Amino acid sequence: MKILIFGHGYVGNRCADAWGDDAVLSDVRVTSKEDAAREIERVKPDAVLNAAGVTGKPNVDWCDSHQIETIVGNTLTPIAIAAACQEAGTYLLHIGSGCIFYGDAPHEDKMWREDDFGNPLPTYSRSKWAADLTLSTLPNVGIARIRMPIDRVPGARNLIDKLAAYTKVIDVENSVTIVDDMIDVLRRLMEKKAPGIFHVVNPGVMRHRELMALYEELVDPAHTNEWISNEDLTRLGLATKGRSNNMMASTRLAEYGIVMREVHEALRDTMEKYAEAKKRGA
Ligand SMILES: NC(=O)c1ccc[n+]([C@@H]2O[C@H](COP(=O)([O-])OP(=O)(O)OC[C@H]3O[C@@H](n4cnc5c(N)ncnc54)[C@H](OP(=O)(O)O)[C@@H]3O)[C@@H](O)[C@H]2O)c1
Repeated sequence: MKILIFGHGYVGNRCADAWGDDAVLSDVRVTSKEDAAREIERVKPDAVLNAAGVTGKPNVDWCDSHQIETIVGNTLTPIAIAAACQEAGTYLLHIGSGCIFYGDAPHEDKMWREDDFGNPLPTYSRSKWAADLTLSTLPNVGIARIRMPIDRVPGARNLIDKLAAYTKVIDVENSVTIVDDMIDVLRRLMEKKAPGIFHVVNPGVMRHRELMALYEELVDPAHTNEWISNEDLTRLGLATKGRSNNMMASTRLAEYGIVMREVHEALRDTMEKYAEAKKRGA
């Protein structure tokens, strides 16, 4: 299977590394349908993965002061890529985000379903939701919503590295995505050309406390941090806008025979591999 990947950032590179010769990681900056169409014509892929997006540097707060760049990257660019894929008759899997949901879902179990409407406030989340709203009307398009990637490979985008670096950490529970599992699920969704929205999160919910306890057990027993509430994050000036914390149900992967590992099982396995990578000096 040949996969054309747009977006040579964190997710694009992790997928390209895993898929080897099956993947072509494009270095084209897509500014129009024609840019994407030329790449599709050149590569002739079986499927396109859109991992291009604007996530903000040093963090997502940047998007609130750079609204147009954010909207172009997260709403217009996916629409341009989708238009090119529709014309070429090529399946598109777009990377969405679980950060379009804030707080508890209006269901008894408080978990957000794939067909629930988002309730985003900040620019980043709104621009992601706008792409979901429009792309989800198209045939031959899948949307894989991921959330707070946890990776065996150390790096700035990894939730393990992020939380370990903070002296004050919010004590919240969330749905999360284990990156090894995500890479496998994305490929299987493309093989099956699965349409519609998918929550690519590991079953179960994880408290930040659980992640840090494992980190202290397996990586750095000397690590300490202070625990704060989600409200403290903005009150103490550590972020300009509150972060999305939520729980997501993954109800649609099973339609395609895809099962992800329970989050605590996957988290321990990932942290063990992360600890080995740290020992090797990765
Ligand atoms: N990492 C997460 O925590 C997370 C969580 C949920 C969802 N996501 C979603 O996953 C996707 C990938 O995120 P990531 O973590 O890999 O972010 P990333 O490391 O910032 O990568 C995004 C890449 O897309 C590129 N890009 C932006 N606009 C482009 C365009 N018009 N054409 C081609 N490339 C373009 C960026 O290039 P430049 O840097 O040169 O602009 C960057 O290399 C995004 O849609 C993001 O919303 C990520």
